[in-house]
Amino acid sequence: MAKQAPGVRIDGLTVVYKTPAGELPAVRNVSMKLPAGTITGIVGESGSGKSTLAFSLLNAVQPPGRISAGSVEIDDLGDVVTFEGERLRKARGAHIGYVFQAAQNSLNPLKTVGKQLLDLGRSHGVDDLRGLVKDAKELLGRMGLDGARVLDSHQHELSGGMRQRVGIMLALVLNAHLVVLDEPTTALDMITQATILRIIREVHAERGLTTMVITHDIGVVAEVADRLAVMYGGRIVEQGPTRKVLADPQHPYTRGLIRAIPRLTGDIDEARALPGRPPTLATVPKEGCVFRERCPLRMDVCDTVDPEALSHGDRIIACHAVKVKELA
Ligand SMILES: Nc1ncnc2c1ncn2[C@@H]1O[C@H](COP(=O)(O)OP(=O)(O)OP(=O)(O)O)[C@@H](O)[C@H]1O
Ligand code: SF4
Ligand SMILES: [Mg+2]
Repeated sequence: MAKQAPGVRIDGLTVVYKTPAGELPAVRNVSMKLPAGTITGIVGESGSGKSTLAFSLLNAVQPPGRISAGSVEIDDLGDVVTFEGERLRKARGAHIGYVFQAAQNSLNPLKTVGKQLLDLGRSHGVDDLRGLVKDAKELLGRMGLDGARVLDSHQHELSGGMRQRVGIMLALVLNAHLVVLDEPTTALDMITQATILRIIREVHAERGLTTMVITHDIGVVAEVADRLAVMYGGRIVEQGPTRKVLADPQHPYTRGLIRAIPRLTGDIDEARALPGRPPTLATVPKEGCVFRERCPLRMDVCDTVDPEALSHGDRIIACHAVKVKELA
């Protein structure tokens, strides 16, 4: 079993939710790689399918959702989409650590952090619970917290930044080497956000992890991610090395996102919000390009043909207007 950073290959992944209008895809035909030892950022507006993609990595999509197609191959573990029962439960936690979106609220308000840690250890058959507590204290200390005090605390006694760090500790303490962080800095002030991002970078490097960071804030991925994938309406529309995607975005949606962030453009007067709203499950077009309602480059073909995700050097872009060429 993997005790070092695993690589992950997601291929043709589709996740649907049952709705009154039938089963509709929240993630559609997504293929991507998380190279071993890297941090990958997933960015997109609310409802683009980021959390659904994250749950798929643990084969933990809950009804009324289900993975309807595709695979998630994790090195030394296999295709987790085919896992079930005990095998799946063991893979979660021990191999794949997960920090829930709004970690602030995912702790049990009635139990101390220490009690929840012991529950986690027992549910994973950890014999050495003292060792587990020691590791938890060390991790919390590593993140600038008084471990003993935090373990004795209830959630309401901790600040938002402290709860985020507790979430990261719980994701790491069983020694997972694939870690998924869903909105780890949302709702934190800028200084706490910067601290959490620094901790994520350090822990990632020290423990030898493969990490996925999910955020709606492209500024966050700019700071931590080696690679970046941009989601829109359940599709990944552009992916590649973060530096290249930010410096020279190709997909019209990525361009719009970056233009809307003064921190990235460096010029507050130039920052322009992307007009329009993202689609919901019910309004995602059934055919053609998911982005066409908001796209300044829309052509006739975009209304009928869903653009294929094509490789352009080390980038993958799904847009009819981007011609295949070697990008710098
Ligand atoms: N249990 C559910 N039943 C029906 N639809 C759902 C369910 N969970 C999510 N969806 C829909 O699936 C789509 C993707 O949701 P998801 O939570 O993955 O998006 P997200 O990118 O994580 O959004 P956010 O930034 O708000 O967290 C949305 O349209 C959402 O309304
Ligand atoms: S495929 Fe067409 S509508 Fe979609 S992003 Fe490209 S140009 Fe715009
Ligand atoms: Mg989400």
